[in-house]
Amino acid sequence: MRFDIFQLNETGSTNDDVKKAAEAGVAEGMVVWALSQKSGKGRLGRAWESPQGNLYFSVLLRPPRPKRAWGHYSFAAGVAIAETVGAILPDAKIELKWPNDVLVNGKKICGILLEGGEGWLVIGMGINVASTPKTPLYPTTSLAAEGATALAVEGVLNGVLDRWGAWYEKLNKEGFEPVRAEWLKRARRGVVRVRLPGSGQEELAGAFVDLDEEGNLVMRLEDGTERRIAAGDVIF
Ligand code: BTN
Repeated sequence: MRFDIFQLNETGSTNDDVKKAAEAGVAEGMVVWALSQKSGKGRLGRAWESPQGNLYFSVLLRPPRPKRAWGHYSFAAGVAIAETVGAILPDAKIELKWPNDVLVNGKKICGILLEGGEGWLVIGMGINVASTPKTPLYPTTSLAAEGATALAVEGVLNGVLDRWGAWYEKLNKEGFEPVRAEWLKRARRGVVRVRLPGSGQEELAGAFVDLDEEGNLVMRLEDGTERRIAAGDVIF
């Protein structure tokens, strides 16, 4: 995929910018990168604090695969970010947390937000480079806090785009299996608590078992039954 990068000093949300372009018919590969966002968006309707110094960008995709498989692209993005962060911090422990967080030494370093419409998918990525905004539910870190020095945000962007492009092509050619296998290699295992979306704040506790072919989290509950979870927050 060829990327066409637009750099902005500040915007509301790069996802919103790319969504607008998608609806106006812009081609796949557009990237909007902002140095800061005034109303950065996180998963499940949360805000994503976006001060200068971290990386915020969104990519416009027109995926060839059926819409029900578009969730797979977020796992490919997780793998791409894990590889990039791993190259910058070779001694750190890098893990993937369902559905799409990358953990460095047990703390969240990025967020991935997918939004889709008729014939387009926007994938937004936020990576903590210089600073560490707090998020609910999970401790956070940044590349700088983990010891990376002399890092340019643009270098991190190019690194992620390079890996992302490779995984995007692979997913389109070979299907989910190679992405799933790579994701599982890096998956954080052990006991998980899942907070289900909705007002009830329902929580399930159990053990991580698998990532299934659809991208659902498979967990074994304390009573021995297995549950497949399509959306929620995982707390270890
Ligand atoms: C999460 O809640 O973990 C996902 C956060 C996604 C943040 C990124 S920053 C770039 C893009 N623009 C947004 O408004 N959100 C995503």
